Amino acid sequence: MKATVLLTAIILSLYSKAQLISYTNYSKQTIMTTHTNTQTQVQGSVFELPKLPYSYSALEPYIDARTMEIHYEKHHGAYTNNLNTAIKGTELEGKNIEFILATISKHSAAVRNNGGGYYNHNLFWSILSASGSEKPAENLEIANAIMKDFGSFDEFKAQFSQAATTRFGSGWAWLSVDANGKLFVSSTPNQDNPLMDVVDKKGTPILGLDVWEHAYYLNYQNRRVDYISAFYSIVNWNEVNKKYTEAKK
Ligand SMILES: [Fe+2]
Repeated sequence: MKATVLLTAIILSLYSKAQLISYTNYSKQTIMTTHTNTQTQVQGSVFELPKLPYSYSALEPYIDARTMEIHYEKHHGAYTNNLNTAIKGTELEGKNIEFILATISKHSAAVRNNGGGYYNHNLFWSILSASGSEKPAENLEIANAIMKDFGSFDEFKAQFSQAATTRFGSGWAWLSVDANGKLFVSSTPNQDNPLMDVVDKKGTPILGLDVWEHAYYLNYQNRRVDYISAFYSIVNWNEVNKKYTEAKK
């Protein structure tokens, strides 16, 4: 009898604790959500560093965790903060990033460098994936478009690799959609990109490769070609396809 009472008391005690933990977690979540929403409303026009869609080590061995951590937190973080500082109190406060980039010739070097850096890295993280593949699946629109506009995937890859390899100093290689819906490859210096009104050929970028040394130096040192080669193993073609179909609208 005593054993039964004791067992019942233990069960009731554990149940109460579980309820308390559950309630505490729920309260924390509610508070965090409320806080986040409030911050978003208060901050409004401030650009925020987007959450990485995977862990720092997710893209290993192609991109190492330490490079990802520094690249995301320090470099992308700095571009984001510096962009906010550069537009604070100006007519650009509250404008979206695409508008700012499309009119970049009218703005300061700080807005150009940091606005580009903010946008370019947002795009870069989104088109990488641990479950990426070298080629898009044949049923994706982007696969057909590459065949139509480049003749073959290998031709696209050759042009893209060439653009990334030969970009002198720091910059980016791009696959973009032009005003007629056609794909083209280009490269830009520093943090410029095809959305800017200062580039030779404008378009909507759907795939980008960061060839700044900060993107590969820890693991590849000066071997940019090896880094470019590794990149093809982790391309998220589903996301590139999504960007392609959106750009064509
Ligand atoms: Fe970068």
